[in-house]
Amino acid sequence: MDTEVTLRVDGVEHQLTVDTRTTLLDALRERLGNTSPKKGCDHGQCGACTVLLDGQRVNSCLALAVAHDGGEIVTAAGLATDGLHPVQRAFIDHDAFQCGYCTPGQIVSAVAMLAEAAAGRPSTVTFDTPGDGPNGGPVDLAVDPDEIRERMSGNLCRCAAYANMVPAIQEVAGS
Ligand code: FES
Ligand code: FES
Repeated sequence: MDTEVTLRVDGVEHQLTVDTRTTLLDALRERLGNTSPKKGCDHGQCGACTVLLDGQRVNSCLALAVAHDGGEIVTAAGLATDGLHPVQRAFIDHDAFQCGYCTPGQIVSAVAMLAEAAAGRPSTVTFDTPGDGPNGGPVDLAVDPDEIRERMSGNLCRCAAYANMVPAIQEVAGS
């Protein structure tokens, strides 16, 4: 069954008719030609398709477009507004990618993760209470690479470029 949806993607509103089974990832890539989010596993395991949906990071391969009518979506491409986003710049400066296939998802996830940590949202692993950092202290991503690894653990990299992603994210966290 087809239905009408309105999606605002990287600041531009689109109205389209989609089959109700169409994922947000397929709507973005196949219908709107936005190939920034990548299709890796297509079932929620790799994070290559990560986008911001109404400010939250989601795996767009697991979201149905019809369920997010009126949604505000930001892809990695849309993060660059007035020049590169600081996370994009840091990934370049730290050579934090190899083939680049996972990179848009990694960058979107890092942007969201930094905002989550700044808002005091705990990661999935709590080291202690009441704080989420080691020994119950506050999270300081600039000096806590383990916390970054945990918070980024939904994004896989086949090239294993993790070693340079962590300092890239630490740099932004500390700026
Ligand atoms: Fe969506 Fe892998 S393509 S999580
Ligand atoms: Fe190749 Fe991550 S840079 S998959």
